[in-house]
Amino acid sequence: MKALVTGGCGFIGSHAVRALVTDGWQVVNLDALTYASNPANLADLADTSAYTFVQGSICDAALVERHIPGCDLVINFAAETHVDRSLLEPASFVRTDVEGVVCLLEVLRGHPGTAFVHMSTDEVFGSLPEPLRATEDTPFAPGSPYSASKAAAELQLRAYAQTYGMPITVLRSCNIYGPNQHIEKFIPLFATRALAGDQLPLYGDGLQEREWLFIDDFVSALRTVIRAFPATPGVSAYHVGSDDRRTNVSVARTICELSERPFDLIQPVEDRPGHDRRYALDCSRLRAMGWAPRVSFEDGLARTVAWYRDQQDHWRAAESAGFAEYMQRQYASRLDAR
Ligand code: TYD
Repeated sequence: MKALVTGGCGFIGSHAVRALVTDGWQVVNLDALTYASNPANLADLADTSAYTFVQGSICDAALVERHIPGCDLVINFAAETHVDRSLLEPASFVRTDVEGVVCLLEVLRGHPGTAFVHMSTDEVFGSLPEPLRATEDTPFAPGSPYSASKAAAELQLRAYAQTYGMPITVLRSCNIYGPNQHIEKFIPLFATRALAGDQLPLYGDGLQEREWLFIDDFVSALRTVIRAFPATPGVSAYHVGSDDRRTNVSVARTICELSERPFDLIQPVEDRPGHDRRYALDCSRLRAMGWAPRVSFEDGLARTVAWYRDQQDHWRAAESAGFAEYMQRQYASRLDAR
């Protein structure tokens, strides 16, 4: 069996590629090597004959077309994913997250035997007040340029599934964390800064809630969905969440404890504009297929903080001059204003 995985040098993609290779798949990893990619995430597979790396974008139809023949499956993890960056430079989100997906769909409709799995997000539903949880049929109400791009991509998936009878699987997950995640994201940013003794810029009142899932549990969800193939024509969506929601301030405090730093490293700073308050998923559909998360947040977070402490060379390989500029743009005035 052969799979084309896009965005395989990123956080979730790298774990998915390794799992597929472990399960006996031939895997072609198409990755544009943007700032968010880290080739170190898959360095251990370099000499594995079942694994091939191709540098390129999902917006490059000719390149995608060249690699699809012979593939049973395409899994799309390639995306711009950071909400803060979508506020600074929304065009790149529309380009990759919407146009890139349409490009994949255009190529895929010429290959009806190839299944398509697309990675989406709980953020397409926008902020949901307690006690609501989004089911797979909850209407979209995205609140950021990032989530609007992911919702737009999903509308295109629906249109292609209806128009051409394509079988398409969508995974909408809550916030995933674990080794290999880019350090611009909340948990790795706070873990690496806490370990270094730097201030932790907590947006607004810190009482926003996110649902957290350890990466290994996401990978087991992906395996559950693939095992249930062949998918039927139309869009089959599955929610992948933990039901374990925490406020940002409580996560920040746990990170301080795990890295043996005082809570006063946590600095409330100017909020993210339009900041969604709470995301929550109902995962009954996937749980009915036998899947359940296994890693507690306490265990997963301890493993994650230990990884960022012990694997500095690995995650520092993804740091660039561009990243320093981004950090300056995003945080300098926020932290100076303290
Ligand atoms: P993030 O990892 O960016 O994921 P998302 O916004 O897609 O859920 O952020 C998780 C939460 O952490 C979110 O509520 C924003 C908050 N946050 C901060 O308070 N400070 C930060 O520096 C970052 C990056 C995030």
